[in-house]
Amino acid sequence: MSKLTRSAAWQALSAHYSIIQPLHMRQMFQDNPKRFDEFSLRLDTLLFDYSKNRINAETVRLLVELARQAEVSKHVEHMFAGEKINVTEQRAALHTALRNRSDNPVYVDGKNVMPDVRRVLGLMRRFSDGIRNGQHLGHTGKQITDIVNIGIGGSDLGPLMVCEALKHYAKANLRAHFVSNVDGTHLVETLKNLDAETTLFIVSSKTFTTQETMTNAGSARAWLVEKLGNEQAVTKHFAAVSTNLTATSKFGINPQNVFEFWDWVGGRYSLWSAIGLPIALYVGMDRFEELLGGGYAMDEHFRNAPLDKNIPVLMGLLGIWYADFFGAGANAVFPYDQYLRRFPAYLQQLEMESNGKRVDRDGIGVDYDTGMVVWGEPGTNGQHAFYQLLHQGTRMIPSDFLAPLHSLNPIGEHHAILLANCFAQTEALMVGKTAEEARAELVTQGLQRKALEALLPHKIFPGNKPTNTLLFDQLDPHTLGMLIALYEHKVFVQSVVWNINPFDQWGVELGKQLAGKILPELRGAVPTADHDASTNGLIAYYHNHH
Ligand code: F6P
Repeated sequence: MSKLTRSAAWQALSAHYSIIQPLHMRQMFQDNPKRFDEFSLRLDTLLFDYSKNRINAETVRLLVELARQAEVSKHVEHMFAGEKINVTEQRAALHTALRNRSDNPVYVDGKNVMPDVRRVLGLMRRFSDGIRNGQHLGHTGKQITDIVNIGIGGSDLGPLMVCEALKHYAKANLRAHFVSNVDGTHLVETLKNLDAETTLFIVSSKTFTTQETMTNAGSARAWLVEKLGNEQAVTKHFAAVSTNLTATSKFGINPQNVFEFWDWVGGRYSLWSAIGLPIALYVGMDRFEELLGGGYAMDEHFRNAPLDKNIPVLMGLLGIWYADFFGAGANAVFPYDQYLRRFPAYLQQLEMESNGKRVDRDGIGVDYDTGMVVWGEPGTNGQHAFYQLLHQGTRMIPSDFLAPLHSLNPIGEHHAILLANCFAQTEALMVGKTAEEARAELVTQGLQRKALEALLPHKIFPGNKPTNTLLFDQLDPHTLGMLIALYEHKVFVQSVVWNINPFDQWGVELGKQLAGKILPELRGAVPTADHDASTNGLIAYYHNHH
């Protein structure tokens, strides 16, 4: 048994699980009318309702004890203090410094990083203002109307999700596009409708070696030079964001258009850095700084609120409760806000690349489940697609519901209908429908006994499905910053309890290595190596049919 599963807090939760497991939340709500007040928290304009979870006060006490035993608060301070908590890469994880709105210094290896952070923010402001107000023109003197971000993973999903989420605040006549997939279709379809004279490419890559990004960047460069008939055009139409300044200069990007960040920023935590440049261009630097402000507000809450009143801590602990004691394998996220439609995809990388680990910080195999599969789609679309499985399937999928109180596009009754659906879903998942209730309905509908008995089992909803609800006033940059930082910290809390390193991603390496071996074989430059029979067969099939 691992130290964690042997620990007093874990054992206490195991014993407590057998008490909670048979209880139904419907009954818990009937027994305790104050459940909402007891199990909800407010932070600025954010409401976190976690009352529809399979918990009572004792569960929360025991989960908080688990966090205490894992010394979550100490680890949080280590992260904020710039300690090299990413042990396998010997790096700090200081995305919080990027949104530090205070005058407090933040040190990495004895150096205060804040002057560099502020300097790059200043450069981003100058550049984005220049593009937005037409000072920085394209090679032929025309104003930039389209920005194409070329990046993948953290160098794509974060800025893409934020640009989509803040579309309401975007400048008219400026469009943001994102090319990530190495499938040529992505680039070609994006460029089809663009005019090279008015297009700016941002090559975003922490390492500036990522195969997909460098391939797309090379093809975009060739397209631009061909369209404008001049290599010099690259100076005006290409910018880069990277930690690898040698590689950006080798690619031929004008040093004035290069924005630096640092190895203490993890890829999936980088949207707060210059990787957020497309955001600054799209919605303006003031809005980008409001986003940083929202992240900072959540940081302050995370650092200072007691564990049992701390939203990221509670969210993280609830995830552990379901993953490790109820055996839940997936966690769904449903934004009832169309602007947040890419939020689940963004969270997939954040959570699954961070906590999809099977050995602990010391390299010892864990004997408990870690990161869950994260997925989701915006409401109400999911309701007409996969909610069936949530309501009546055999699995328990704890879900987060996110919704704004006010719509940015209030028309007719749309928003009330949207929210009614959101609240109805969490209610339905929790209360379910008993056999008696279903029977009474069928009787009212006039069903005859035989038909009624046949249909009855299909009409029963077990309920007791846990959900969190996050309500906020309106989707603005500050609120979005809070939400993103909330999930980042939730993931961190879980990693601390699970004793895993959430800041490395060695699991992406093997596929990259093997692709590097297979590519020359597909080119026919080298004979097919000795793979397994399936892979050899696929390569041979490609050669025979290509
Ligand atoms: O392969 C995974 C990964 O390393 C992610 O962690 C990262 O966000 C992505 O690739 C892109 O990396 P880069 O920004 O260096 O191009």
